[in-house]
Amino acid sequence: MTEPLGPATIKVGTVEVPGRAALAPLAGYTEYPFRAAVARFGCAFAVTPLISAEGLIRRNEKTTRLLATGDDDASVVAAQIFGSRPAAMAEAAKIAAGAGFPIVDVNLGCPAPKIRKQQAGAALLGDAVNLRKVARAVVAASPVPVTAKMRLGDDAGKSTLAAAKLLCEEGVAALTVHGRTLEQGLRGPVDCAAVKEIAAAAAVPLWANGGVETPQDAEQLLEDTGAAGVMVGRAAVGKPYLIDQVEKYLAEGEAPAPPSRAALAEAFLFHFDKAASVDGEERAARQFRKHLLAYLKSAPGGKALCSRAAVVACCDDVVGVLDEFKRLPEYGP
Ligand SMILES: Cc1cc2nc3c(=O)[nH]c(=O)nc-3n(C[C@H](O)[C@H](O)[C@H](O)COP(=O)(O)O)c2cc1C
Repeated sequence: MTEPLGPATIKVGTVEVPGRAALAPLAGYTEYPFRAAVARFGCAFAVTPLISAEGLIRRNEKTTRLLATGDDDASVVAAQIFGSRPAAMAEAAKIAAGAGFPIVDVNLGCPAPKIRKQQAGAALLGDAVNLRKVARAVVAASPVPVTAKMRLGDDAGKSTLAAAKLLCEEGVAALTVHGRTLEQGLRGPVDCAAVKEIAAAAAVPLWANGGVETPQDAEQLLEDTGAAGVMVGRAAVGKPYLIDQVEKYLAEGEAPAPPSRAALAEAFLFHFDKAASVDGEERAARQFRKHLLAYLKSAPGGKALCSRAAVVACCDDVVGVLDEFKRLPEYGP
């Protein structure tokens, strides 16, 4: 590491976000139970999965469940909403803020056909006229700061740069940019030059995102983009301690060792218990399988337990797998 950067907070409007490393929104993963597990290891800032504005307004039960949070959540959590109707987005922002979230984030990057068909996500990013209306309506209605998460379009970042300027004009308080194009999807190198240009032009702090798997990757991404912070996505699934490692490495120059097997197993069980309290044991067990598999795959020796993890159906099954996990040898030198 060149020089430790020291501790930091990033100011998002009136909200002080501790640290530089954050958990990116991941649909199906960054709900409250996983965020609480990640927060246990020190992650201070996280984003919910994208939440349908229309679903929130209709008080759809499944959608509303995505607003679950609690005292042991990350200290700052942004609720990410998506949609394309300015009035609906404004109303959804009020609902999310009313549920206790200190930041409302607008999704401008989702490439999924079902989101783009609604002119939301990445489609909204490409529609400057409606984007302005949505941003204006959300900022005016939201009692908490509004941020936006974008990705690069297939024009070397030009449309994203234009959108970033528009969003700043409308009072958005911070931005995140996933530095890959729509065509790239989730693969390939991040276009750091494009993200750097956006970060330099934006009048607000910016989190760079994409491809961070290690603390050293995060350092490189910060250096190459000039961003204020980094958001870690897929690499944090299975490694709830990674964001803390990134944070400490950036601030202090050294990343803590991964937690012991016992501490990890305890955190996994804590995650499952949280999920069961939100979703009930059966549903939680089904949804926990992918997390358990990720946890096991990213821990040496854990792969042997994957076939059992893939079929857990209740708390006893989860406890059984974790008991075996604890008996595996500790990490090697
Ligand atoms: C399974 C999955 C779900 C995602 N869900 C969301 C989402 O709800 N909102 C969003 O803005 N981005 C979402 N993303 C994009 C991530 O936040 C992130 O931008 C992307 O994974 C790149 O970061 P990474 O290389 O660190 O994973 C998702 C990505 C994946 C793989």
